[in-house]
Amino acid sequence: MSTQAKKRVLSGIQPSGEIHVGNWLGAVRTWAKQVEDQAEDNLYCIVDAHAITVPYEPAELKRRTLGLARDLIACGVDPARCTLFVQSDVREHTELAWYLATVTPMGDLFRMTQFKDKSDGKEFVSAGLFTYPVLMSADILLYKATIVPVGDDQVQHIELARETVRRFNHRYGDIFPEPEARLSVTPRIMGLDGEGKMSKSKGNSIDVFEPRDSFWNKLRTAFTDPQRLRKSDPGRPDVCNVFTMHKALGSEATVLEVRESCTGAKWGCVDCKKVLMDGFDRELVPLRTRREALDEGAVARALTEGADKARAIAAETLREVRGAMGLGSA
Ligand code: TYM
Repeated sequence: MSTQAKKRVLSGIQPSGEIHVGNWLGAVRTWAKQVEDQAEDNLYCIVDAHAITVPYEPAELKRRTLGLARDLIACGVDPARCTLFVQSDVREHTELAWYLATVTPMGDLFRMTQFKDKSDGKEFVSAGLFTYPVLMSADILLYKATIVPVGDDQVQHIELARETVRRFNHRYGDIFPEPEARLSVTPRIMGLDGEGKMSKSKGNSIDVFEPRDSFWNKLRTAFTDPQRLRKSDPGRPDVCNVFTMHKALGSEATVLEVRESCTGAKWGCVDCKKVLMDGFDRELVPLRTRREALDEGAVARALTEGADKARAIAAETLREVRGAMGLGSA
């Protein structure tokens, strides 16, 4: 199949911290599988322009952006087989975001849960935080991507992007296809404290490239079924975050064994977590080895090439958009 005929996939991740288990099981591991499969044309973007909507340290942002690129490559987002790039290296993202802002109602933006969560109780809320989902629509539409692999916290933003497409196309002609979210089997990993989803900002996460000792120490204390106080109490796998992670990492036979051992009170929670840790080791050890072997120069070159490839597509879309909207002198 030629690249032309393949469906296009786009997704992004903020360089606001290390890749945690939620990012990985909710999104990045799916990206790596898709890159491996080569069934679609994959674009993955480190969204640094999204990360500046809240206070940040510029030198730290640059360091994190490059570190995240290395980690993504180590996770299997192989730049030789997909387009991996940094959002702000392709200026067309911010240009399209402005055009899309003119067809996005403020009322819809006020309804975004992420905006409500991130702005709640803050003294200073930037206009950038408010229009964040518009930039996200631009990320997707710039490449006319139809598939967006994300965790469930991003689904509302993708719904908004779909509505933006309808409004834009209605006004200016049939330019953009409607994108759809693609969820992994674990679209929502809860935090280790059991309080809401695992998130960089809540300090309830385990990082994928954390040393094994601290990884295990955190996993060992992770919140499970609150009703299970003793090993002899039968557990409820369907309300347990550890079971959710087994579903992502274990074979069918392991998942079944975990379920039976939990509901039958054969295993305690630590026994169950040890089996889960084996699953993490199996997948993460090779990623750690690959990460060690990656040098900074190769990562930087991959990002330059990725941005060139992305820019070529982006420029073509913007030419079309500017034409349809009657913008410019030429
Ligand atoms: P970000 O950087 O917060 O997260 C990156 C990806 O990880 C997923 N994720 C989770 N999945 C399951 N359980 C969790 N606890 C968990 N935490 C995070 C997120 O859903 C996401 O898929 N706005 C986006 C970045 C973005 C984007 C885009 C995504 C910008 N432009 C265009 C798709 C398309 C964000 O902040 O993700």
